[in-house]
Amino acid sequence: MDQRTEYLLDWYDRNARKMPWRGEKDPYRIWVSEAMLQQTRVETVMGYYDRFLQSFPTLQSLALAEEKDVLKQWEGLGYYSRARNLQAGARQVIQDFGGTLPVDPAELRKIHGIGPYTAGAIASIAFGVPVAAVDGNVIRVISRLYAIEENPEKTEIRDRVQKLAEKLVPTERPGDHNQAMMDLGATVCVPGTPDCEVCPLLGLCQAEKRGIAAELPRLSKAKPPREIRYDLLILRSGSQVLMRKRTEKMLQGLWCFPMMEDWKNETEITGEIWTKWGFSCAKMICHGEAKHVFTHQTWRMMIYETEIAGDCETPKGYRFVSVGDFEALAMPTAMKKARALVLDRFSTMKT
Ligand code: ADE
Repeated sequence: MDQRTEYLLDWYDRNARKMPWRGEKDPYRIWVSEAMLQQTRVETVMGYYDRFLQSFPTLQSLALAEEKDVLKQWEGLGYYSRARNLQAGARQVIQDFGGTLPVDPAELRKIHGIGPYTAGAIASIAFGVPVAAVDGNVIRVISRLYAIEENPEKTEIRDRVQKLAEKLVPTERPGDHNQAMMDLGATVCVPGTPDCEVCPLLGLCQAEKRGIAAELPRLSKAKPPREIRYDLLILRSGSQVLMRKRTEKMLQGLWCFPMMEDWKNETEITGEIWTKWGFSCAKMICHGEAKHVFTHQTWRMMIYETEIAGDCETPKGYRFVSVGDFEALAMPTAMKKARALVLDRFSTMKT
């Protein structure tokens, strides 16, 4: 075994972070944990993992579930395509693989939503296949260990990182090795301020030797998210409120309040509601701004509430939702403030 791998496993035995999926051997449950952990911090996932598996304890139960119930369990985790992909993948496993996840990483990669990272994680952790699972943390560890100064966002550099990561994976305990790499990246070999003093790979790390560990990996600067302004409308009709199920790729299948791009004054908004849907509005209440930062966009939503009148025919793609059904809808975190306002309004209404 490579000395680096040996030291790392030894470190892992003493320092592994406790997580509910550690020690798990059921490939489905590992798949769920890995899907949740992509782009999301371990602490956040902890609050979702057990509850999700209580609702969908087997791959079969997830495959048979309704998408709305899967999204409701994912509510607040973000990147909702992961949930839809997980379910599409579960259905595919039943169709194409007789209901059990394959052992071979190349086969795993044929499944909807399973890329090289997830295939490597499932194969190594669940089945003990000696294959790497290279996520952002691992890219950082490898870049430093081998003092790779080029940008690993470039395909050829990324390929080099992958090859070096593969070479380190031992035939014994490959899953633990991969998780040790991730834990090291998350707790010691962190971006900007690596804690090299306590690193089990101190003395074996090229970047540390050259005094450039903190500078690596040299990634390109992320563009700041584009700011978009919306007027968000709480349109009440008696004890119901108008909601829209998103069809756009972003947040697809989640329920949002009607939104109109740009900030306008109340007269303009009232006019637009009339032309668009034929609702006449009572006086508006402005509840101020709610802001939500996504990876590539920042939504700045000015929240208006009003009672609508007229025959209030439901516009296509929208639904008038009653008090009792409102809480069951899967809504993105961006709707949190408006959602709370509606729940508050409903709870004080004597209906
Ligand atoms: N990030 C993604 N999967 C992980 C795992 N299994 N352990 C630690 N960090 C992770």
